[in-house]
Amino acid sequence: MKPSTKPETFLLVSLLLCTLLGLGDPLNCEVCIRNGAICTGETKTCPSDKDSCIVIVTEINNKGSVGVTSYKGCSKSSECDPAFLSITVAPENYMGSNTRCCQTSGCNHSPLPAFRRNLTENGLRCPSCFTLFKETCTPTEEALCVGEETRCVTMTGLVQPAGVKFAAQGCGTVTACHTKPGTLVPSGSRLLTIKKAAVFQAPGLLARLSE
Ligand SMILES: *[C@@H]1O[C@H](CO)[C@@H](O)[C@H](O)[C@H]1NC(C)=O
Repeated sequence: MKPSTKPETFLLVSLLLCTLLGLGDPLNCEVCIRNGAICTGETKTCPSDKDSCIVIVTEINNKGSVGVTSYKGCSKSSECDPAFLSITVAPENYMGSNTRCCQTSGCNHSPLPAFRRNLTENGLRCPSCFTLFKETCTPTEEALCVGEETRCVTMTGLVQPAGVKFAAQGCGTVTACHTKPGTLVPSGSRLLTIKKAAVFQAPGLLARLSE
């Protein structure tokens, strides 16, 4: 076929290509990070590899100091876990995170409802530990699981922007075990990215199940 030289045909073909490739309508998302349950920021155009807007609220207790962080931005849907996830290493060392993703411009404007940590012990105990600079840690204590944390989990990831490794073991929600690689957990001015999460069998649980 001879390439057409008619301007209207060229326009039509360009328009079709743009629609097919989704280039016609760049995604805009609100972008912010702040301590507290709400953050607001400028609306920015996402890079072309990000197809979702994301809102995350986390609560992290680090040696007794509790921090709530809100984050909004552009994301990849392949890295978005629209769920509540929670992991407990010790009563004063836990992380809870609530995430929502959406795919239309400005859709991450509304804040997420605040979540309250369920402190009721559910009877499960898991060997636990937390360490920086390594991909594994050896359990030194036992965590008492609370609320919906019905699994013993291991988790590894990176603390951004420095890219420092961390490893954690403890109680976790079912959603924590299925965390997608790349999932973000904002913590103050830092961002944790989760690389891998898995369930492990707690010796205590096995002992109790076989009783
Ligand atoms: C809190 O967790 C306990 C133990 O898993 C559960 O029985 C209870 O229903 C939970 N409460 C709420 C409000 O979700």
